[in-house]
Amino acid sequence: MKIAVAGTGYVGLVTGVCLAEHGHNVTCVDIDDSKVDLMKAGVSPIFEPDLEELMIKNLDGLYFTTDYKTAYKDADVIFIGVGTPEKKDGSANLSYVYGVAEQIAESIEKDCVVVVKSTVPIGTNDKIEAMIKSNLSHNVNVYVASNPEFLAQGTAVRDTLHPSRIVIGVEEPIAGEVLKEVYKDFDAPIVITNRKSAEMIKYASNDFLALKISFINEIANLCEIIGADIEDVAHGMGYDSRIGNRFLNAGIGYGGSCFPKDTKALHWLANFHDNELKTIKAAIDVNENQKLKLVKKSRKYFDNFKGLNVAVLGLTFKPGTDDLREAPSLLNIPIMLEDGANIKAWDPVGVDNFKKIYPHEITYCNTIEDTLKAADVCFIFTEWDEVKNFDITKYNKLMRTPIVLDGRNCYDLASVKKANITYDSIGRETLYILEASPV
Ligand code: UDX
Repeated sequence: MKIAVAGTGYVGLVTGVCLAEHGHNVTCVDIDDSKVDLMKAGVSPIFEPDLEELMIKNLDGLYFTTDYKTAYKDADVIFIGVGTPEKKDGSANLSYVYGVAEQIAESIEKDCVVVVKSTVPIGTNDKIEAMIKSNLSHNVNVYVASNPEFLAQGTAVRDTLHPSRIVIGVEEPIAGEVLKEVYKDFDAPIVITNRKSAEMIKYASNDFLALKISFINEIANLCEIIGADIEDVAHGMGYDSRIGNRFLNAGIGYGGSCFPKDTKALHWLANFHDNELKTIKAAIDVNENQKLKLVKKSRKYFDNFKGLNVAVLGLTFKPGTDDLREAPSLLNIPIMLEDGANIKAWDPVGVDNFKKIYPHEITYCNTIEDTLKAADVCFIFTEWDEVKNFDITKYNKLMRTPIVLDGRNCYDLASVKKANITYDSIGRETLYILEASPV
């Protein structure tokens, strides 16, 4: 099928590349010339495992352009995969989605199905359809379908090629038939429903996962107080298949481009209808506090960070991505800098993006060892494998005072006990270095 994809971020580009892998003829449209040139040369503008390899493999059936008119005019299907960032009031900014809808209306010259992949508030597909229909330049039939993505960064290609489910929201059966044809070679259950339900499936799924994380983080905080161990608690809970053993990792909260934005957007929408979602509100509040958990813990050891050498391991919101959106590092590092800390930071892929925000205020190190040298305290914000596999006896050898605040529970307590460090993690017993205790 002839497919056009609007937007080449995580959603658009991964969708386009995976559809090309399934034999479709795909044109990806972006407004940024330099990005388009990169992609034409087979270079992915985003860091995402396996994406570039798959792009190069499919360059025969994969085109990149800024010329939306040509891309859209005779497409059978047009996917909208542009961003829906959060506005200051928590609602979703739909200007990019509506902008693409206008371009589609002015460009299409044959019947087509417009598929909304971007995460949009419930009811937006209806508005997109009305907007396109009232602005059409040619007398054609256009059907709008909702087809939310469920891809996580770091596993986006795998999640798209092997989805847990394909959700299709349509108002006319013909649009459903076209999308079934698009996905005919994908091995996944297909859920066909109306558009509003499809839009809701996306928000409800993300918000439920965010809620699960905030729930386990609250239980972790209580475990610390009463002397239980969150790892054992989550392990014990996870055997119940109704609960499941995934997304029960306690830590310093969720970040990224989806959970923070989608929880706030659904909460905003519900409030707009005078129907507050109290569980989602709680998930948001718990997460905001949780992100500051390590800094709060550090007050047990230091009144403030003035003159302290602080080692930071991990800057990105999770491993496997260079994305910093809503990363705990972005909330915590300014607090330390404001106090007058000397910060050394390490991250295997996030440094370039962090340098755009803090070009000079931080020393960026190439190795974990260099980061730890002469440090008074170490903060672990991201559970990179390099951190998890790091020889923990080195913390004591390299740091001036080996106080490690681990926001991702990277080490098991039995190994830490042998490393003679002060180790404060989430929802577990704090271990103290033998010759020191908190002030
Ligand atoms: C998420 C959803 O997983 C995906 O289905 C959706 O389409 C987009 O949003 P992503 O934001 O890439 O994907 O990351 P994810 O792996 O879900 O993690 C989100 C955040 O939750 C990260 O900050 C992660 O560290 C945190 N998290 C995740 C936890 O704190 N504990 C967990 O058990 C799992």
